[in-house]
Amino acid sequence: MSLSVLILAAGKGSRMKSKLPKVLHEVGNAPMIYYPIDLAKRIQANKVVTVIGKKYEHIKNTILSFSDDLGIVEQPDPLGTGHAVLCAKKYFEDFNGNLLILLGDCPFISEKSINNLINLRESGVDLAVLGFNTKDAKSYGRLVLDANGELEKIVEANDATPQEEAINFCNSGVMIANSRLLFSLLERVSNSNTADEFYLTDIVALAKSDNLTVGSTSCSEKEAQGINDHSDLAAAEEHFQNTKRVEMMRQGITLIASSTIFFSFDTTLGSDTVVEPNVVFGPGVNVGSNVRIKSFSHLEGCLIKSNVTIGPFARIRPETVLNEGVKIGNFVEIKKSTLQRNVKANHLSYIGDASIGEGTNVGAGTVFCNYDGSSKSSIEVGENSFIGSNVSLVAPLAIGDRAILGAGSTITDDVPKDSLALGRNRQINKTKK
Ligand code: UD1
Ligand code: MG
Repeated sequence: MSLSVLILAAGKGSRMKSKLPKVLHEVGNAPMIYYPIDLAKRIQANKVVTVIGKKYEHIKNTILSFSDDLGIVEQPDPLGTGHAVLCAKKYFEDFNGNLLILLGDCPFISEKSINNLINLRESGVDLAVLGFNTKDAKSYGRLVLDANGELEKIVEANDATPQEEAINFCNSGVMIANSRLLFSLLERVSNSNTADEFYLTDIVALAKSDNLTVGSTSCSEKEAQGINDHSDLAAAEEHFQNTKRVEMMRQGITLIASSTIFFSFDTTLGSDTVVEPNVVFGPGVNVGSNVRIKSFSHLEGCLIKSNVTIGPFARIRPETVLNEGVKIGNFVEIKKSTLQRNVKANHLSYIGDASIGEGTNVGAGTVFCNYDGSSKSSIEVGENSFIGSNVSLVAPLAIGDRAILGAGSTITDDVPKDSLALGRNRQINKTKK
């Protein structure tokens, strides 16, 4: 049966108390809306549509940056999850397959749980809901079961009786039904409840009253956790990091004091790589195998090949490529530069907008002066060159192969290959009177 996905992301997010729309708050350095979109792609939905609030141009831009073939529909006012789904009706007029609803504020739903739900639907259940058991049901909707243990209705926390409030089987927000059935049930949902909202969850009781079959499967509480305020966001981040750490260690990576190492949604590390305590991986980091990243280093947007050593206290910034055998030591910052094999920059340096040839040594305190106050220029350094300590290279520059730059020099002109460049005052010694 064909499958489409509708992701709800148009809510006010008022509990976040933030000007930033809720679904753009980040988990693992990705806006939380990234996760349901990624899930929809992994389950190979043939159409994915996201409902967003009218004024949120930046949500639209973020969503389109993940994938430009996503449908976007506006919900003019956030009148509830049921109303949000109805706003997308016109996108599915010609569609008569399964429509899976995902929430933009639930990042951890797994592919396995979705497949279980799809299997339940395909076994003949008209409307299938993904629930979860929890000891702390917070503001989640409660799944009310009938005497036969079948799903009867969903009651939102604010509208629940004390008995219903005590129920520990909750709504993850994920459900699936034939799209035409879903929209026809939604036409009958009213907003006569505490929040004056059109609840998507009301379609369960409506389906039951039509003698349709309604069923539920369950996932873990961790998977289902929704993000409604900053304490939920912090709990989600913790869960993300713990999951990623375990995943990394299972792939053969050593994490020393793993709880002090922080990953992004897209970090990849090769086997036999060792990460020492207090290392942070920003977005876009790909690391090869047998790399050692020493304590207190920060990496983002970079490609690190195998057998590289980094840190302690190194900062590797976007568009940096460190080839095999490179050694980067303490207090070295590198931005938008490519270092060929076996380059060494072991102490206290800034390297920006540069390419450095194989085997070159960058001495302590070297600064690549790439910015003149209005624009950036680049520096090319050849192979097997030696940059002495405390050299300033003023861009734009080309330094040839096997060149030697004397310590303390300020280099403003190109240096030919196989030559020694000195750009400093001659020392004068005077006899004391
Ligand atoms: C919702 C469910 C609740 C479930 C919980 C799971 C309803 C009525 N309640 O509650 O049963 O346990 O999720 O996390 O469905 N949204 C819109 N338009 C709106 C309102 C919301 O697009 O008018 C979007 C939000 O952006 C969000 C999602 O729908 O991504 C859920 O909305 P939220 O307000 O967080 O609902 P919950 O109170 O968490
Ligand atoms: Mg929510």
